[in-house]
Amino acid sequence: MENEFILAPSILAADFRILGKQIAAVEAAGAPYLHIDVMDGVFVPSISFGMPVIESIRQSSGLFFDVHLMITDPIRYVEEFAKVGADGITFHLEAAEDPGAVIDAIHRAGKKAGISIKPETEVEAVFPYLKAADMVLVMSVEPGFGGQKFLEKSCDRIKLIRDYIDTNGFYTKIEVDGGVDSRVARKVLKAGANVIVSGSAIFEKGFIRSNVKKFYKAADKVKDKKKS
Ligand code: DX5
Ligand code: ZN
Repeated sequence: MENEFILAPSILAADFRILGKQIAAVEAAGAPYLHIDVMDGVFVPSISFGMPVIESIRQSSGLFFDVHLMITDPIRYVEEFAKVGADGITFHLEAAEDPGAVIDAIHRAGKKAGISIKPETEVEAVFPYLKAADMVLVMSVEPGFGGQKFLEKSCDRIKLIRDYIDTNGFYTKIEVDGGVDSRVARKVLKAGANVIVSGSAIFEKGFIRSNVKKFYKAADKVKDKKKS
C-alpha cells in the first residue's frame, strides 16, 4: 500500500505577531496540512487557542486544517470546530467516554476523524477504532507543550499500529506528533508513519521554506530505500 508522505506544520511554534504570513509561507513551501493544537488546561496543563483563531486563519488559507483537540470530553465541541473550518478533527482516546461516538460525530459533521493516544496508553487500546477512523495520531511526547524531546519508544508503537492496519487492509493514516525534526522524521517514516507533525523544527528562526525542504529530503531518502 502506497503511503503518501504528508507534512503537517504545527502553528503552536509560530510567531503569532505574523501568524498569517507564516501560514502563507508554509503553504508556499508545499506542506499540505496545517496542524492546529487546541489545549483546554484540563486534559493538558496548558491552554493554547480555540475557535476564533481557526475561524480567522481559515479566511486566508486553503491548507487542510488538521485540528488536534487536547480537550476533555471532545464530543461537546465537534460541531463547532467543524463550523469554524477544521478539515480533520483528532481527539484523544483518553479524553472520550465513547470514542466510537466521537468518530461518528466527526463524520456526521462531514470531516475526517482522527484518534490519538498518549505515550503511556497501550497501543492495543486504539485497535478497535482503526477501521472507522481516518487517521491515528501517535503522540511521541506527553501532549501539552512544543519543543520536547522525541520518545524513542514511539517507533515500536508506530510499527505495531502499521502492522495491524496493513494486516487488516485498512486505509487509516498514521500521524506522529512531538519532537520530530527531519532526522527523527526518517525513523518514524521507516517505522510506518505517513503524516508528520512538526512545530519547532519548521518554524525555527522563521526559516520555514528551508526547514520544510529538509523534511521532504528525508522522506525522499526513505522512499528510495524502500524501493531498493
Ligand atoms: C504537543 C503538540 C504538538 C507540538 C509539536 O502537545 O501536540 O503538535 O506543537 O511541537 P514540536 O514539533 O516542537 O514537538
Ligand atoms: Zn499536536
